[in-house]
Amino acid sequence: MLSHEKNAILTQSGPDAPMGKFMRAFWTPAMTAAEVPAADEPPVRLQLLNERLVVFRDSAGRVGVLEENCPHRGASLFFGRNEEGGIRCVYHGWKFDVDGGCMDMPTEPAGSRMCQNVKAKAYPARLAGGLLWVYMGSASPAPELPAFEFIGLPGDQIYASRWHQECNYAQAMEGELDSAHVGFLHRMVNHTSEDNQALTGKYFKEDTAPSWKILPTEAGFLACNGRRVDGDKRYWRLNQFLLPFYTMIPPRPGDAQLVRMWVPMTDERCWVICVTFRPDRALGAEELAAWRNGDNSHRKVIPGTTTPTERKDNDYLIDRQEQKTISFTGIKGIRAQDAMVTESAGPIADRTREHLGSSDIAVVAMRRTLIEQAGKCAASGETPVAVTKPALYRVRATQAVLPQDMPVETADEIIRPARAAA
Ligand code: FES
Ligand SMILES: [Fe+2]
Repeated sequence: MLSHEKNAILTQSGPDAPMGKFMRAFWTPAMTAAEVPAADEPPVRLQLLNERLVVFRDSAGRVGVLEENCPHRGASLFFGRNEEGGIRCVYHGWKFDVDGGCMDMPTEPAGSRMCQNVKAKAYPARLAGGLLWVYMGSASPAPELPAFEFIGLPGDQIYASRWHQECNYAQAMEGELDSAHVGFLHRMVNHTSEDNQALTGKYFKEDTAPSWKILPTEAGFLACNGRRVDGDKRYWRLNQFLLPFYTMIPPRPGDAQLVRMWVPMTDERCWVICVTFRPDRALGAEELAAWRNGDNSHRKVIPGTTTPTERKDNDYLIDRQEQKTISFTGIKGIRAQDAMVTESAGPIADRTREHLGSSDIAVVAMRRTLIEQAGKCAASGETPVAVTKPALYRVRATQAVLPQDMPVETADEIIRPARAAA
């Protein structure tokens, strides 16, 4: 459990909250590159870390991320006109460039210097790895982007998607770090199913109470969970937690690598951004089609929106008959199943009332790491180490079947790619 005070620190990401300040020291993934409007197209709205923003691309193709409210009297720039190198507020015609500089102030008399003195709040933005990244911190220049393995890969080797979830980011992320749920929540009850073999296969069922070992890294930790399998062996999965809100789980053999990002939108909603990628070759047509349809790595959304088709207000389209005969939940899609359990705890779970068991060790480690790091940065004003070492993000989640008593930290084949460049 967590006290009310610590729960507030963990879950609040506004500009004045300790966690909000901590997160702002990092670049924030905001949307997929495909969602960024083309040059001179109308702006789109973006809520990030409890701030309301607009995103647009000017005539030269530069991306601008501005506070949504016009610095004059607060009208929304979402309704503005994106014209000739900047966005013009339609209330009184003030116009701003991608850096927030005022380009025109037609309501002021000729010769007025006011235009030079008024700026729209603008954040540095970059397109990389199929995503738009926004820097909302105070360092100037902004730090380097985290050196995730997918950044810099050709476009045909990366697929990114984004959807929103109706709960706090930490709660949504807890569902990914807690490996013990996999053998239940995602279980198929018709034992002939192909999914049953592949996803919750026999290892997850053979040992439903994995042992845990948390190995700290400079950017978070490795959540190692090991199941006793095949008599005298142990199936180890090394999940990554990377500050402030990234997770990686090992893909099935042959599947694409993946990174998930649990980004606060408000304190009661979050973005989930998923990047699947192949470091060595182009993605296949079949896997792309499956992801677009919301298969296990990604979530099915209403086209052109970030709204999932199976969601809270339609009870995730639960089918009680299927729950009896096909799957443990009767809900289609692994990601929808995950969202159902994390959202159904409420927008911000009351962590004073929970009863944590040994399967929650990674969840506890994540909360502790974030709260400690946020507190440390708030007290010292120092830049988090992970921000200054982008290469810490060039890691993978790994897995292997090892001799049962072999300490996982000595298994070089899975430790090395989890700790250094893959
Ligand atoms: S409120 Fe935007 S120009 Fe007046
Ligand atoms: Fe899950």
